[in-house]
Amino acid sequence: MSQQLSIVIPTFNESQNVRELLLRIEAALGATGWEVIFVDDDSPDGTSSVVRDIARGDTRVRCIQRIGRRGLSSACIEGMLASSAPVIAVMDADLQHDETILPAMLASIEQKGADLVIGTRYAPGGGMDNWNESRKTMSRFATVTSRMILSQPVSDPMSGFFMLRREVFDLTVRNLSGLGFKILLDILATAKHESLQPLKIVEVPYHFRNRVAGESKLDEMVVWEYAMLLADKTIGRYVPVRFLAFSIIGGVGVLIHMVVLTTMLKGLAFGFTAAQSAATAVAMIFNFVLNNILTYRDRRLTGLKWFRGLISFMIACSIGALSNVGIATYLFRNQTQWVLAALAGVLVGAVWNYAVTQLYTWGSGGKKRLQPKKPPDKPV
Ligand code: GDD
Ligand code: MN
Repeated sequence: MSQQLSIVIPTFNESQNVRELLLRIEAALGATGWEVIFVDDDSPDGTSSVVRDIARGDTRVRCIQRIGRRGLSSACIEGMLASSAPVIAVMDADLQHDETILPAMLASIEQKGADLVIGTRYAPGGGMDNWNESRKTMSRFATVTSRMILSQPVSDPMSGFFMLRREVFDLTVRNLSGLGFKILLDILATAKHESLQPLKIVEVPYHFRNRVAGESKLDEMVVWEYAMLLADKTIGRYVPVRFLAFSIIGGVGVLIHMVVLTTMLKGLAFGFTAAQSAATAVAMIFNFVLNNILTYRDRRLTGLKWFRGLISFMIACSIGALSNVGIATYLFRNQTQWVLAALAGVLVGAVWNYAVTQLYTWGSGGKKRLQPKKPPDKPV
């Protein structure tokens, strides 16, 4: 039987769930016609090893292990790119998505000509167990705001359980944001601009189960990640959202700078140079910490790399500050209005800081780490 369906499953610390999930998928779909691709972000609980253990005895199963990266959406995209069946499904590893609707989803595509099938909690027959009020409210809020970037109404655009024809993915993949948790929303919002309209969408209700083993990875930061996705899908064509985030944080950094400076100068009677230096250092550390948590959430530095990152960030931003002052002074001396000269300096400094730290603080460090320590043995 030829392959009909590729199932992409993002994992982070799901070692206790993968075996059971595969048994259930086989029970739902039968023994052949499908493959499963796990995309694991180097889970500390060894999920990748568990998957590879299974894969050694089962060619339907594969593992993509990503190192130094995090992110549900980008993991799904990479899994889909590595798949080969004409239909692709995405589902969670934690058994919360009801695998028994997979055959109905597949039939909607193969027999009823759907382009995209969404497992939905918000249609008759669907639902979820006791979610607390705040999570329910958040989910509803996200569902409502998502309408901004969607052209076709769907009941559960936040769903992480869906299936699509490979062509839909092929035609959207180059324009996906890949930011945050909401890969379906990303696909829906991107398909809006492509030659895919109208998409034939079918919804299949299911009951979202409670998690038994492991824990949810969604934290307070989902709100931020969601905002980044919305921003990217609206103004992202004009300004990179990471630059936007970087600049907003930089703006807050200036306020912090002024507070520290004023406190030290007026409150604690330090000299100007000492106060200005301390304020600069505090603002830089603040900027680094926030950018590491927010702007570069998917490449977050920890441990020793965090310190190395901080040093490179401070060096880069010091050079940025020098060029800012240099350019502003040059323009000012050449008859530019002082406000314009200052703004030009700030802009050049910001772009420099962004470009250089993207490359050196949150960028190529990761790549270097992946190089083998010693050259590989010569082939014999
Ligand atoms: N590779 C990778 N990288 N996988 C991840 C990451 C990550 O950074 N974060 C989470 N995952 C995996 C989890 O291991 C799980 O298989 C799946 O993605 C969903 O993560 P959960 O942490 O279990 O999410 P949830 O149950 O709170 O959220 C679910 O409901 C949402 C609907 O409100 C998910 O199904 C979401 O996709 C869905 O949007
Ligand atoms: Mn879950």
